[in-house]
Amino acid sequence: MKKETGLSFPEENKFGFKVYIPNEQDVEMASIVSGWTSEFGNMLPKTVDQVLGFFKSGDSILIINDQGMLVSHAAITSSYPNNWKEVGTVATNKEFRNMGAASMAVTEVIKLTLKKDGTSKLFALANQFSAKLFEKLGANTMLSTELPQEVWDPCKGCRLFKKPEGGIIFQCCDTPYKLTDILT
Ligand SMILES: CC(C)(COP(=O)(O)OP(=O)(O)OC[C@H]1O[C@@H](n2cnc3c(N)ncnc32)[C@H](O)[C@@H]1OP(=O)(O)O)[C@@H](O)C(=O)NCCC(=O)NCCS
Repeated sequence: MKKETGLSFPEENKFGFKVYIPNEQDVEMASIVSGWTSEFGNMLPKTVDQVLGFFKSGDSILIINDQGMLVSHAAITSSYPNNWKEVGTVATNKEFRNMGAASMAVTEVIKLTLKKDGTSKLFALANQFSAKLFEKLGANTMLSTELPQEVWDPCKGCRLFKKPEGGIIFQCCDTPYKLTDILT
């Protein structure tokens, strides 16, 4: 908990949650986030090194409470052609769900990314739970064909992936949401 952000992050929300931009020294926090990705299900697991990579690039936002406990995380997890960037690894500590923490983390990731590069195009792949979160934030769904083909490559490593069989082609079970415009 060393680095203060240079952006005008206001807020404390009403539960006293604050925004923190982690760096590569926050190994303990990276380990907790990595643990969540395998424990919570419905998410692509991320190793501690992968999460530390997001921290190192300045692409993660952590939400912490007034006692310094880790509440929530979101990050830019991948970049694609045409300046598309994916907001992912969105997860909230089970004790602090439905208190606005993930909304805060996602909003701050969007602000941070657009501040670095205003031409970025942001999206997220939502499961049934995070879809509610993105809809509350005002995001619209996209057609999968609006995104670069590379976005769907990780599906091949997904436990739900099925090779094309009997004329049926696998489709990702996540829904893409466009996040670029929700703050304007
Ligand atoms: C999805 C997840 C990140 C939401 O985190 P959160 O901090 O509880 O989200 P928020 O409090 O910001 O929720 C925003 C809104 O969506 C609603 N919402 C969030 N999850 C919901 C759910 N499972 N069912 C119904 N509504 C939900 C909240 O009620 C809230 O609405 P409100 O502002 O009217 O109260 C959290 O449930 C989680 O970590 N799930 C497991 C990991 C996961 O599935 N991540 C998504 C990967 S794409």
